Amino acid sequence: MSAHIIDGKAAAARVLQQIRHDVENLKAEGIEPALAVILVGNDAASEVYVRNKILRAEEAGIRSLEHRLPADSSQARLLALIAELNADNTVNGILLQLPLPAHLEENRVLQAIDPGKDVDGFHSENVGGLSQGRNVLTPCTPSGCLHLLEETCGDLSGKHAVVIGRSNIVGKPMAALLLQAHCSVTVVHSRSTDARALCQLADIVVAAVGRPRLIDASWLKRGAVVIDVGINRIEDHGRSRLVGDVDFDSASEVAAAITPVPGGVGPMTIAFLMKNTVTAARQQAHAQRSQSEAVCLSTC
Ligand code: GUN
Repeated sequence: MSAHIIDGKAAAARVLQQIRHDVENLKAEGIEPALAVILVGNDAASEVYVRNKILRAEEAGIRSLEHRLPADSSQARLLALIAELNADNTVNGILLQLPLPAHLEENRVLQAIDPGKDVDGFHSENVGGLSQGRNVLTPCTPSGCLHLLEETCGDLSGKHAVVIGRSNIVGKPMAALLLQAHCSVTVVHSRSTDARALCQLADIVVAAVGRPRLIDASWLKRGAVVIDVGINRIEDHGRSRLVGDVDFDSASEVAAAITPVPGGVGPMTIAFLMKNTVTAARQQAHAQRSQSEAVCLSTC
């Protein structure tokens, strides 16, 4: 069997097309969505991610503001910038590019972002809201994976999904989103006693472990749908190239559908960042409107 290749680039383009349309409608109501991106230091991969996020925002009609701080910036300096952006009513979304330099406390700084502007969905208010099934901003990569799965499989109810990896950015929120979509969910990780055997039971596999080509055909049930979140740079015959956590050629022989790397999940992450920014802008505008109506009712 040769698997259907899930085209993340095309799916992201469709999502972005809808976002452009939503942004135009918001602008007609006098709302201009804006995203602030903070980069501390000059990690090469982060530079590329931030550049792509800003480019996609501009293409979608979203105003973007780039804030660059030197690698040796103090935590107080970073917290002051976040406080400034939280208070700025013209900024709807705040994205702090990770990883941060080692001297900064990632969790402490992420908690300082206003949950309503937390377009990464990393604030504990949003993490808790997701696990309770509340309507909150959810992490972009897992949201993009869920979109690809729903486009590929339709209704996910009752399917057995195995998530490989338990990171806060992908594995845990992915499991919560799949549960919300009525899947039976298993999370396997480095301490699982037989990750491969558990994975062999899955209708859906989401691989997010950061181990190049770990998952091959022997991990998969025939007909499984495979989403590969991994982006690993390897040396191959003296050349550097990107591969996923899944051995694409081997897995394609047994999977029904599979995402490639690159061109699978990657473009969806940015598309869902834009979607979260538009959602945040809409929610903030509604909240401001209700607040002014309440003030008017109490004073008029
Ligand atoms: N670094 C790698 N992935 C991400 C992400 O999804 N969000 C942020 N803020 N930083 C990242």
